[in-house]
Amino acid sequence: MSGAGAPDFFYREAQRLGYVARSAFKLLQIQNQFKLITSGSSVLDLGCAPGAWLQVACQSLGPPRNGGSVLGIDLKEKGFSVILSDMCPLVSGITTRDAALSVELGMQAVNLALGEAALGVGDVIHGKDNDNVDDSTSVSDCDGVLRQGGHLVIKLLESEDTQEFSRMLKPLFRKSSLLRPKATRSSSREIYLICQSLKART
Ligand SMILES: C[S@@+](CC[C@H](N)C(=O)[O-])C[C@H]1O[C@@H](n2cnc3c(N)ncnc32)[C@H](O)[C@@H]1O
Repeated sequence: MSGAGAPDFFYREAQRLGYVARSAFKLLQIQNQFKLITSGSSVLDLGCAPGAWLQVACQSLGPPRNGGSVLGIDLKEKGFSVILSDMCPLVSGITTRDAALSVELGMQAVNLALGEAALGVGDVIHGKDNDNVDDSTSVSDCDGVLRQGGHLVIKLLESEDTQEFSRMLKPLFRKSSLLRPKATRSSSREIYLICQSLKART
């Protein structure tokens, strides 16, 4: 007999099979009996840490070409190591309007990624309080979902704000670059801001 804390059959099996917790076998049993997750399912896992159900759910999705996805959330910090935003507004053809909307979408991605650390960036891009933001800004009390060392990619429609957007994020990351991919149509104003390696919180 195994009490709580004693390595039992399921604990040892989880270790052998590479699951992060024995709870994997609970979802495996649910799957075996009810087959809820099928190829191409989209799954939301509430209370996902440490991630054993995520592992089982991902294994149950079938081949990536079927388009399945698993998203987990938890009170415990997990964070993402890469955040990609290819968000783009519905283009109206009014260049300044489209560019401003793309900056708004870019800021939403930055806010999600960096949380509190993004506040100064938004103020400067919107022309407020420029004097209070220092180029040596570092990530403080970051409550965003991008992990330290993580990378952020944001699509923008190029305008006079693009360089400012890039300049204000630069101090928060080890490296930042602007890229116009070869696959971008020549008529498009899109450009990608690639921010690499989020600096440590202070
Ligand atoms: C039993 S564990 C889940 C184990 C997970 N299914 C697995 O297989 O790895 C319960 C989780 O619920 C999370 N949790 C509790 N309350 C929560 C809340 N209000 N929002 C998000 N997560 C929560 C806890 O942080 C904990 O990680």
